[in-house]
Amino acid sequence: MNIAIVTGASSGMGKECAEILADRFSGISEIWLIARRKDRLEKLSDSLPVKTRLFSIDLGTEGAIHTLQAELKKTSPRVRFLVNAAGFGAIGKAGEISADLSASMIRVNCESLTRITETVLPYMPVNSRILNFASAAAFLPQPGFAVYAATKAYVLSYSRALRTELKKRKIAVTAVCPGPVRTEFFDIAEKTGVIPVYKKLVMADPGRVARTAVRDCMAGKSVSVYGITMKGFRLLCRVLPHEWLLKIWDIFPLKDADPSGPEAV
Ligand SMILES: NC(=O)c1ccc[n+]([C@@H]2O[C@H](COP(=O)([O-])OP(=O)(O)OC[C@H]3O[C@@H](n4cnc5c(N)ncnc54)[C@H](OP(=O)(O)O)[C@@H]3O)[C@@H](O)[C@H]2O)c1
Repeated sequence: MNIAIVTGASSGMGKECAEILADRFSGISEIWLIARRKDRLEKLSDSLPVKTRLFSIDLGTEGAIHTLQAELKKTSPRVRFLVNAAGFGAIGKAGEISADLSASMIRVNCESLTRITETVLPYMPVNSRILNFASAAAFLPQPGFAVYAATKAYVLSYSRALRTELKKRKIAVTAVCPGPVRTEFFDIAEKTGVIPVYKKLVMADPGRVARTAVRDCMAGKSVSVYGITMKGFRLLCRVLPHEWLLKIWDIFPLKDADPSGPEAV
């Protein structure tokens, strides 16, 4: 049985990826959908033209993926696609967001992504694909979004190294690095702070970003960056020393969208 596994499938780019895989890859007989919100997974499942298995699990908790591990062991599927899209960010400087929230970001964005990847890998045959959602935040440290950007730098670094490790097995790994995208991500991120105005101006459509990600992954690209603005940002971060860019950030701090500043945690 050929399957795809998608985390973060209840909304945003994870949901878009599940829809694309279901529509375009007839060889996939099941998609396994992972997120906490069961009602959302059921709604998506009803709309997809393939069979699904739903895993309503909180990736921020210890032992969360036991049910996934058990199902893999029981059914021994061939996992053709693994999409790691589950993740979240909390805006705020050190001291403005709680240490527990920062630890939770690291657990969901880094630890669970790594655990799921390494649990699923033994079930991935040659020519299968892994899409890991990093972010353009991985290209440069982000004061005011520091922990989130650091988790995404981890995802980018891990994905690139994994890609090299898996070359012999012909498994392609793509790190997806979008800039701001119009999803529920910012409803959660803005619980602890306010996004800068410029991010609102360059927000991309989640369907377009997901389509580009799947296309880049099929083309075997190591990094998928959507749009000219983020491609330019990546180039800037590659050619200029980060210390310079952080100094510019310090001299010209980008104004918050809401002058009243961050909300209470
Ligand atoms: N939107 C952006 O601007 C942007 C930019 C660059 C990168 N990204 C990254 O792209 C990925 C997808 O984000 P998105 O924009 O599509 O955001 P989104 O709409 O908020 O989707 C996030 C997904 O992650 C799941 N998730 C979050 N915490 C979880 C937990 N503890 N356990 C299980 N699932 C959890 C959510 O499901 P439940 O809430 O149902 O659990 C949801 O399905 C994330 O990794 C994000 O960091 C986003």
